[in-house]
Amino acid sequence: MMTRRIIAFLLLGGVMTSTVTLAQHGQDQRRPADIKEYLEQLDHPERDQYQKPSQVVEALGLKPGMAVADLGSGSGYFTRRFVEAVTDSGMVYAIDVEQEMLTYAKESLVHLHVPFTAEFILARPDSPKLPTDSVDLIFVCNTYHHLENRATYFSNVKSALKPGGRIAIIDFYHDDRSGPLGFPKHHLVPHDTVVTEMTEAGYKLLREHTFLPRQYFLEFVPATP
Ligand SMILES: C[S@@+](CC[C@H](N)C(=O)[O-])C[C@H]1O[C@@H](n2cnc3c(N)ncnc32)[C@H](O)[C@@H]1O
Repeated sequence: MMTRRIIAFLLLGGVMTSTVTLAQHGQDQRRPADIKEYLEQLDHPERDQYQKPSQVVEALGLKPGMAVADLGSGSGYFTRRFVEAVTDSGMVYAIDVEQEMLTYAKESLVHLHVPFTAEFILARPDSPKLPTDSVDLIFVCNTYHHLENRATYFSNVKSALKPGGRIAIIDFYHDDRSGPLGFPKHHLVPHDTVVTEMTEAGYKLLREHTFLPRQYFLEFVPATP
């Protein structure tokens, strides 16, 4: 299944933190050989410097009672912030294709010692398996470039949005702005390609936030409500 291995230096927060082995299978699907180490990298405190999670959550305008899907939730870095923002009157779906990541994210939520309402969905590569009409926001951080056939994927996902629902996409710039990442930048999706693909999927760009130094941050809504 694994056709080749690359040694990658994951640079999170602008600081070289360690060496991680990534297993590469297929064209673009990369999965870390050591998931535990990968999860620790995602949660590294240095990451906050460029990821600005509080500012991201504030920009999303989340309110108690809202329903949010964290698509490609990984370690739960943002999932934890979402459960605090929407409170237990809301709903957070943590969605990932890796069961180990979901288990880790769930444990990290429990350790917050705050009441929360959440579901953990083991996704299929081609579907987040979200219920119809279930969420106000689908949040996709550093995961868009992992997805395949993205226009079809997001066209199908539209049915999971409640009326007025949005999709927010944050991902690394494919050029020098993202800084050293530890994997080839041709895996990344340029900003304009995201807009083109999401337009093809039936969305329009609602707004763009420009405060993240290494990533674009785009919000889309269905072109026809
Ligand atoms: C780089 S991590 C980002 C994690 C998290 N969003 C963050 O910002 O910390 C990408 C995550 O996407 C997940 N992933 C990859 N393909 C996916 C798919 N088709 N559906 C859902 N999750 C996927 C990976 O397992 C991994 O947890």
